Amino acid sequence: MILLGVNIDHCATVRQARYRDAAGAEGGAVEPDPVEFALAAERAGADGITVHLREDRRHIQERDVWRLRDKISTRLNLEMACTPAMTAFALQLKPEFVCIVPENRQEVTTEGGLDIVGNRERVRACVDAMNAAGIKASLFIDPDEPQIEASAKLGAPFVELHTGAYANAYFGPQRAAEFERLRVGTIFGHRAGLTINAGHGINYVNIAEVRTLPHLHELNIGHSIVSRAIFTGVDEAVREMRRRTNLET
Ligand code: PXP
Repeated sequence: MILLGVNIDHCATVRQARYRDAAGAEGGAVEPDPVEFALAAERAGADGITVHLREDRRHIQERDVWRLRDKISTRLNLEMACTPAMTAFALQLKPEFVCIVPENRQEVTTEGGLDIVGNRERVRACVDAMNAAGIKASLFIDPDEPQIEASAKLGAPFVELHTGAYANAYFGPQRAAEFERLRVGTIFGHRAGLTINAGHGINYVNIAEVRTLPHLHELNIGHSIVSRAIFTGVDEAVREMRRRTNLET
């Protein structure tokens, strides 16, 4: 069975669009609350909750992550840049998983994964710290052999293969080639002893093909779920406001 990690970053994106300055405020009028989103996702069967605490704090805030740590009952996967500050934060937080992702251009290969080959020592320091603390580290990389091999050599137990290039190519001529690249990557990673996750750009259409990849342990999906939730919830949201608009006081 493939596990589903639900990435709730874009719930926080919507909150920040209105309440960026409401520092520390949560619940009450400040909505949508990503922690409530996470709890609803768990009730619906999510196997884990993923958040990316970005350096620019454009969506998830530190206080969200601490509240999630307290309140969720599945497991927390913290996506983070490979920096000393984020490593220190993760060691304090102690999530079950961290996924190390690129945040600045120099760390990024053409397709958008973390360039392990070019940043070996920096990534090694972070992976070693996580291994020592019992936090399972995953490296978000493109599905290419040199990156997969370098990840295995660093001792990370997991990789998350970047499915963005495949998702972007889905309706174009490169789809089959991008899918094959992922398929070969999952097999190569599995043989190298890695546990294989995948994510980015997976939606309600391409999931039918993505789930046929061999050796998949978990998919991390965010944008499409948050987007779908807006539509599946619109009926109730409008009815409730319509009712309250005319409620007698
Ligand atoms: N996995 C990683 C490492 C990511 O950075 C993201 C995007 O934040 C995702 C998965 C989820 O991507 P999407 O929001 O497109 O489903």
